[in-house]
Amino acid sequence: MRALAFLVVGLMLGALISVTALNVLNRGPQTHKAVMLMMKYQVDTARSVIDPGCPNGASAQRQFATLRALSDDLDAIFVPRGFDKELFGKQSQQMRDRLDKALQTDWSGCPQQVEALNLVRQGCKSCHDEFEG
Ligand code: HEC
Repeated sequence: MRALAFLVVGLMLGALISVTALNVLNRGPQTHKAVMLMMKYQVDTARSVIDPGCPNGASAQRQFATLRALSDDLDAIFVPRGFDKELFGKQSQQMRDRLDKALQTDWSGCPQQVEALNLVRQGCKSCHDEFEG
């Protein structure tokens, strides 16, 4: 019985210490990852509309508009994490410009949406190439 009690307390302490260590190592909220995952979600959702040929005239306009709004926060989230203000700012501005251009798409046409999505995805790649090697 005593051994069992020690075991339970030991497991609880172990879990507590692990969680604390992980939090310290991660240093605060993971907003930078969260915004990227949301951008990926929006791109994936746009693809799921566009790739099957925009069935019944479906459009990914809402996903592009959300991406445009999310991209306004990139500098505020990444620069304090040590990303170079100028270099990062150049890439994020390029992304916003691409999204502004993509937002002028003729949403009734599927080939136009394919083109707009490609433009945006090249923007993702451009920044990742710059910062992730
Ligand atoms: C202006 C720069 C920039 C742009 C534009 C950008 N990213 Fe990122 N992305 C980054 C950086 C920097 C990281 C690495 C973050 C880190 O430190 O873990 C990253 C990481 C990611 C990750 C991995 C997140 C994780 O869980 O670690 C995903 C997914 C991602 N980006 C998706 C996208 C998509 C989709 C787009 C385009 C719609 C995009 N990104 C545009 C800079 C950018």
